Amino acid sequence: MTTESRNALIVGASRGLGLGLARVFLDRGWRVTATQRSPSPGLAGLGTSLRVETVDIDDDGSVASLRDRLAGERFGLIFVVAGVAAKGDDKGDDVAHTIPREEAARILLTNAVSPLRFAETFRPSLAEGGTLAFMSSILGSVARNEDGGMEIYRASKAALNTLVRSFAARHPGSSLLLLHPGWVETDMGGEGADIDVATSARGLAEVIEARLGRPGLAYLDYRGETLPW
Ligand SMILES: NC(=O)c1ccc[n+]([C@@H]2O[C@H](COP(=O)([O-])OP(=O)(O)OC[C@H]3O[C@@H](n4cnc5c(N)ncnc54)[C@H](OP(=O)(O)O)[C@@H]3O)[C@@H](O)[C@H]2O)c1
Repeated sequence: MTTESRNALIVGASRGLGLGLARVFLDRGWRVTATQRSPSPGLAGLGTSLRVETVDIDDDGSVASLRDRLAGERFGLIFVVAGVAAKGDDKGDDVAHTIPREEAARILLTNAVSPLRFAETFRPSLAEGGTLAFMSSILGSVARNEDGGMEIYRASKAALNTLVRSFAARHPGSSLLLLHPGWVETDMGGEGADIDVATSARGLAEVIEARLGRPGLAYLDYRGETLPW
């Protein structure tokens, strides 16, 4: 493998799964650039072999400025991990007809529209045969939506999946992954989730390394199982 192919850009790594992925890819010998929106003690604690950059994927100017700072760099993996859920202690707040409109718009923009805008801007930064990965969720599966709940969040990940399929059609031959990390103990996943960050990040890294550079689009969980659209 070339050095470029084991050079990763992990977007949304200040905490939670993004931070865990930065740690795991470093441990596996990758060069890693990880992004934060504001100074992250977690990233600072990972040491000097990591490059830390700043970007807000909802801000086109911020994304363009990161692209300019990283011009000339080629990544074998660009992984957009950043995402948001509804505010409030109770995820029951996320009901399509009662959630504030601005909150619904924020979730849909950050989870679905912004990752695709980021991907389009950074496509030239992919190494030849590089892979673009997006953090989706099993909640984005329309086929598996039998119980409802987390309505706008769910819709945002379904929208992400659909937009990535459109991206795949626009750029045939691209290597694309939509990944479900499991239900993970993070600020978003909460206490009582099924698995910890280390387990999920290790699984995701194995799935990514096994498929690195393979053309086409797959929707997989952290154990490599294919999920239904
Ligand atoms: N945890 C789970 O069980 C689970 C399950 C399925 C899917 N996911 C998905 O996995 C991803 C990571 O989730 P998590 O559980 O690690 O959540 P988290 O602990 O809440 O972390 C979210 C991360 O996204 C970043 N972020 C949010 N908005 C951003 C923006 N506009 N620009 C750049 N970065 C932004 C946050 O940065 P700040 O620190 O600056 O806010 C933070 O680093 C999300 O896409 C989530 O939907 C999580």
